[in-house]
Amino acid sequence: MTTPLNVLGICGSLRQASYNAAALRVAQALAPDAGMRITIADIADLPLYNEDLRTEGFPATVERFREQIRAADALLFVTPEYNYSIPGVLKNAIDWASRPPEQPFAGKPAAIMGASPGAIGTARAQYHLRQVLVFLDVHPLNKPEVMIGAAHERFDAQGQLIHEPTREFIGKMLAALAAWTRQLARA
Ligand SMILES: Cc1cc2nc3c(=O)[nH]c(=O)nc-3n(C[C@H](O)[C@H](O)[C@H](O)COP(=O)(O)O)c2cc1C
Repeated sequence: MTTPLNVLGICGSLRQASYNAAALRVAQALAPDAGMRITIADIADLPLYNEDLRTEGFPATVERFREQIRAADALLFVTPEYNYSIPGVLKNAIDWASRPPEQPFAGKPAAIMGASPGAIGTARAQYHLRQVLVFLDVHPLNKPEVMIGAAHERFDAQGQLIHEPTREFIGKMLAALAAWTRQLARA
């Protein structure tokens, strides 16, 4: 039996009733079937990026986040779409973690998914995120793209996913991420 992959889930919404956090919890529950374990990063306590703070030394919350990224076999970004892009909290977390020395994203496999009440399920935000990941030398999974539209109809008031095809799709994406991660590790 192979060791489960250690995947770090990074959610771009801090909202209690977040659809994206709910989607990440679904992925977390499905992860063992794909041979992985998903830990969810806590980015709520990161300060706003300030170069003066960094030069004094990374804040402890940032250090912890950077360590989690470093230790992960793969990353799973789950992002809302804000004004056709990624939310500031996610960009802030990425910006903090990306700073030298030894930025921890380089070479990591990653998958992206997102949920929105809108029709196209964070597609624009996901493509902005892919652009950011290019600079960080992350290796994003191309397909399947998990863009959960009409999220208010797919999750109930308790944040439970009530749309089985979406659950199956998330499971397929996790299986593809596991294969991609093992493929890159062999390369
Ligand atoms: C500042 C802001 C901008 C938004 N812009 C978009 C957008 O461009 N596209 C979209 O589909 N939804 C947009 N929304 C709606 C979000 O998709 C919706 O609030 C969603 O529930 C956020 O994700 P969450 O449930 O994980 O918090 C926006 C919401 C906020 C607060």
